[in-house]
Amino acid sequence: MSKFDLTGRKALVTGGARGLGEGMAKALAAAGASVMIGDVLASLGRDVAGALSAGGAKAGFVQLDVTKEDDWLGAVKATVDTLGGFDILINNAGIEITALVADIDAVELGRMLDVNIVGTALGLKHAFRAMRPGGAAGQGGAVVNISSVAATIAFPAIAGYSATKSAVDRLTRVAAMEAGKLGYGVRVNCIYPGLVPTEMGMKLAADMVTLGLWPSAEAAVGDVIGLTPLGRLGEVSDMADAVVFLASDASRFITGAGLPVDGGMGM
Ligand SMILES: NC(=O)c1ccc[n+]([C@@H]2O[C@H](COP(=O)([O-])OP(=O)(O)OC[C@H]3O[C@@H](n4cnc5c(N)ncnc54)[C@H](O)[C@@H]3O)[C@@H](O)[C@H]2O)c1
Repeated sequence: MSKFDLTGRKALVTGGARGLGEGMAKALAAAGASVMIGDVLASLGRDVAGALSAGGAKAGFVQLDVTKEDDWLGAVKATVDTLGGFDILINNAGIEITALVADIDAVELGRMLDVNIVGTALGLKHAFRAMRPGGAAGQGGAVVNISSVAATIAFPAIAGYSATKSAVDRLTRVAAMEAGKLGYGVRVNCIYPGLVPTEMGMKLAADMVTLGLWPSAEAAVGDVIGLTPLGRLGEVSDMADAVVFLASDASRFITGAGLPVDGGMGM
């Protein structure tokens, strides 16, 4: 059982079909929440929802491309209809396309801006509309955005990605300010994960070799560990536990905060 109780809460996790989002969805369910998985990967997303249901949680899957306004309207409706409410949003969906600054491709950068910034902003918009007084759910809640250690350090070949994650940080602060001042009853925070060997994390290490920046993925990972005071890579559960904390009442007086979950790499 989780240290932080989410019994009766209703959560939507974007990008919940695999990687960090899958782990976050499982941790939220273990803490007692009902969980909707929203992702573009329907088959994997349904599998995760099925596993949550098999474990005793109320769960479902909804097709959600976070860059599309209509998808957000459908995802919020599906969450409220399936789970009976909506009071936690984990804005986790994201992509990373590696490039040296001298090789940035406008189309690829635009895609990252779209998913990581527009997707997060639309999530905040639709969560606020649903959770604030008079909204479809109307009970307030908590939003956790997933930024990155990339927003706090300089690492080669991820300038565009780092910019999008810095934007997630700023979106978090202003959204938290508005939600507090306007009486929405919604807290907004973000975490900055360190490198975790998910598909995205391992591809990033491989890209460093392709670009000639490190001789091998193992050497790149070794150097990241060397930059990390706690001396290891992040694990999915490290990020999931931080998200559960920020979604729970244990963090009830915390809003507009960015929590590094990076073993000290970004300090
Ligand atoms: N893995 C890391 O080292 C690391 C470190 C810091 C931050 N992050 C961030 O954590 C989040 C999750 O990363 P991950 O490592 O699990 O990546 P991942 O690639 O393993 O999973 C990302 C998930 O997001 C989904 N997704 C992508 N585009 C989407 C869209 N337009 N709409 C809906 N879903 C979409 C994918 O289908 C996938 O299920 C991302 O925001 C990432 O930037 C990851």
